[in-house]
Amino acid sequence: MTAGFLGRPNRKGQRLRVYNLVMRAELGEPEVVCRAAMLRELEVDLICLAHYADQGLDGLEEVDRAVGGAFGRALTSGTLTGKSDELFFSDISDPEWSCRRVLLVGAGRGLGDPSVVRGVATAAGVAARGAGGVEKLAWIVPDSERSDSAIQAAAEGLLLGAFRDVRFKSEGEEASSLTHVELIVGRSAAGKMQVAAKRGAVLANCVNIARLLGNEPANLLTPPVFAERALQLVSGGRTTVEILEDEAIASHQMGLLQGVAQGSIEPARVIVMRYEPEGVSDGPVLGLVGKGVTFDSGGLSLKTADGMMRMKRDMAGGAAVIGAMRAIGSLGAPTRVLGIVPAVENMPGGRAIRPGDVLTAANGKRVEVLNTDAEGRLILGDSLVLAQKLGATHLVDIATLTGACVVALGHQSSGLMGNPAAWIETVRFAAEGAGERLWPLPMFEEYAEQLKSDIADLANVGGRPAGAITAGMFLKAFTGGLPWAHIDIAGTAWNEKSATHLLRGATGVGVRSLAELAFQFSQKEKQS
Ligand code: BES
Ligand code: MN
Ligand code: ZN
Repeated sequence: MTAGFLGRPNRKGQRLRVYNLVMRAELGEPEVVCRAAMLRELEVDLICLAHYADQGLDGLEEVDRAVGGAFGRALTSGTLTGKSDELFFSDISDPEWSCRRVLLVGAGRGLGDPSVVRGVATAAGVAARGAGGVEKLAWIVPDSERSDSAIQAAAEGLLLGAFRDVRFKSEGEEASSLTHVELIVGRSAAGKMQVAAKRGAVLANCVNIARLLGNEPANLLTPPVFAERALQLVSGGRTTVEILEDEAIASHQMGLLQGVAQGSIEPARVIVMRYEPEGVSDGPVLGLVGKGVTFDSGGLSLKTADGMMRMKRDMAGGAAVIGAMRAIGSLGAPTRVLGIVPAVENMPGGRAIRPGDVLTAANGKRVEVLNTDAEGRLILGDSLVLAQKLGATHLVDIATLTGACVVALGHQSSGLMGNPAAWIETVRFAAEGAGERLWPLPMFEEYAEQLKSDIADLANVGGRPAGAITAGMFLKAFTGGLPWAHIDIAGTAWNEKSATHLLRGATGVGVRSLAELAFQFSQKEKQS
């Protein structure tokens, strides 16, 4: 990442400049190559291998000799088992080898499954970072993982694991030192696999960008700064970025979004990103809409202190769309894509909307805002309408939308809603291919009754029962009958705890799924 982040000076000019420099430093993108090589000739700081349960020493004979038989002894004594999350470092004693250290990462069962490979490679990346000073790393690809998808997953995992966000640490913690990753495969495979490795690297870097955005405090990542960042990160090549400010927002009559924004001194922005592949000027347009609430205080329906603590993350859906648009542009997806991120801050200022206020949406529908904390569906409703106006034929929105979705699915899966069933399945399938979990919730018409308003067309809340679904039903009223999928990432946008293969903080969830969808989409649409 070489683009500068020196956005236009604003009220916080100086602070912004310092901060932009740290963000740029953080975006070092390690070089990733896939090649054939002799293990002992690898000039790297660490050699990593996946070690499956029941694998024993199979395929590890050569490294075991280099570490003086340490792996064999550990297997016999039972300290080395290959179970998931196991990390086993050993020094290389053979003076013929260039590298001095090797790491076996427990992979459990599930030989060659790309999701397992991604997880193991992530653990290796985290461990390498923890070991300190690892600039060059080699990942040995066994025969069982020699598929494009497994190679891509390995590259993704290593770069996701090596990520570290030290922008706001003055001392003590180092940014990732990793500059070079080698995926070592058999001679015949290397050329073909290089493409998959590069693809994995691009995707991981875009996920890491979404993680940086998600981690950023709301005093720095205001709606205008968020928009500036999208401009820097996404525009270029065949992608354009346009930022809608007050007048443009008003001209699109986005009354729901304006209503949410008016309680904050920070102005709203709507980020509009367009990707047009070469030679494709008609056909379907994939419309991606991401919730970009840079801070959600709840507005006058104020959250509790606990509930508000992590609400800087409420723009994670927007970050996912920005990351995906960058990946789509860099990888050259075969389909037209429109990305929209409504960016607002939900605050209880003197001009804030009140419970009971009625707002008019971009499609003319009148909404009674009974709870100002149900703001995500308001800004998304207007943005789904905008996406249609700007030519989208198929819609996907992604949002940290409801606490109810966290209650339903916890932190292990995002919620998936929408219609028709075939489109939902297309989206779910793409996510599965990208190694991200989506699980469907029903959209029975009866749920819409919970959104009936006494005085307006609909209310913005539907009570406690099925809270994730009624939020989805609200959005449905703004989709104009187009194929539409809604992804609720309230439970998956953030890791609460660090683990062997996880780092506490923003996850960048959605980037890989949405990018994958842009690749699968046009093929499916041509068939149907
Ligand atoms: N941003 C929140 C949803 C959320 C909750 C995300 C927890 C991540 C973790 C959303 O704007 C919100 O406040 N939703 C309300 C809706 C309710 C008022 C109908 C909620 O879930 O409580
Ligand atoms: Mn809210
Ligand atoms: Zn919110």
